[in-house]
Amino acid sequence: MNVIRKRGWELPESEATSEQVFLSRRSVLAGAAALAASPGVALAQRVADLPDPSRDLYPARRNEKFVLDRPLTEESVNVTYNNFYEFGTSKSISRAAQALRIRPWTVKIDGMVEKPFEIGFDDLIRKIPLEERLYRHRCVEAWGMTVPWSGFPLAKLVELAQPLSSAKYLRMETFHDANMAPGQRAPFYPWPYVEGLTMAEATNELAFLVTGAYGKPVAKSMGAPLRLALPWKYGFKSIKSIVRFSFVADRPKGLWEAIQPSEYGFWANVNPEVAHPRWSQASEEVLGTSERRPTLLYNGYGEYVADLYKGLEKERLWA
Ligand code: MTE
Repeated sequence: MNVIRKRGWELPESEATSEQVFLSRRSVLAGAAALAASPGVALAQRVADLPDPSRDLYPARRNEKFVLDRPLTEESVNVTYNNFYEFGTSKSISRAAQALRIRPWTVKIDGMVEKPFEIGFDDLIRKIPLEERLYRHRCVEAWGMTVPWSGFPLAKLVELAQPLSSAKYLRMETFHDANMAPGQRAPFYPWPYVEGLTMAEATNELAFLVTGAYGKPVAKSMGAPLRLALPWKYGFKSIKSIVRFSFVADRPKGLWEAIQPSEYGFWANVNPEVAHPRWSQASEEVLGTSERRPTLLYNGYGEYVADLYKGLEKERLWA
């Protein structure tokens, strides 16, 4: 783990630029060839096979404000150890997740907004400048990673959506297509995956909409093309492959809360002193290493978020 290896996004600027030019030229040529050569293939499939049209936006400039207390998790570990129940209940879903079609990808904004609308992912991603942030990522299962995410603050999407002042919560939803994601055939789960935040949480500067990781578009297994990263909360709040943002008056019920409310609640803030009913949260396995580390309150992000919970002490804030 301590081996120093250069990643793709650490290439010198000059080499990175020539790769971008190469990729965009290649995507035009490949696109034209694919569309001409295979008239029998469904259009959606042909679009999905094109090179990623957002590739030129990476690597994004790093926001130096967010620093880590430990090395980054190797990309190979992060991409292959996942929770993405739409593609299976094990951690090894990265191969199955290749079936996820991420183009075309449309995001719907609705509910209590000035005017509901839909926007294509490739239009959305070019409306807001991308940045890179190094965040800790702590799963409720007591493991943690450190990830170089790219994306933009969720607050920017809220701004674009123009919610009414009566909106109290943001409800987010993952795609629902059991033909593409066989895990969604499992009747035990109330698909699609849903998560929610208060408006104050959604507009907190830490709440980050992820489009990339490790200096390129985010991997399918990690929730392409658009997922959330909420580093002060347990990972299940960080919903993957989002297709819908709804501004609502009532508190949304997430998939895990719907299944097992005695173990998973709405707030799910990280707290080492509040054990999960079946295991301790005092420490975490640092994935990709043989290390365990003490877990920190709010996963170490209390200076950004503790104020959000003042006056809410009677709520079950921790799981
Ligand atoms: N989002 C969807 N749509 N489906 C999921 O199964 N799992 C959650 C969260 N978001 C999940 C999801 C859980 S439990 C965790 S810990 C993180 O995604 C895992 O993110 P990672 O695979 O990138 O580490």
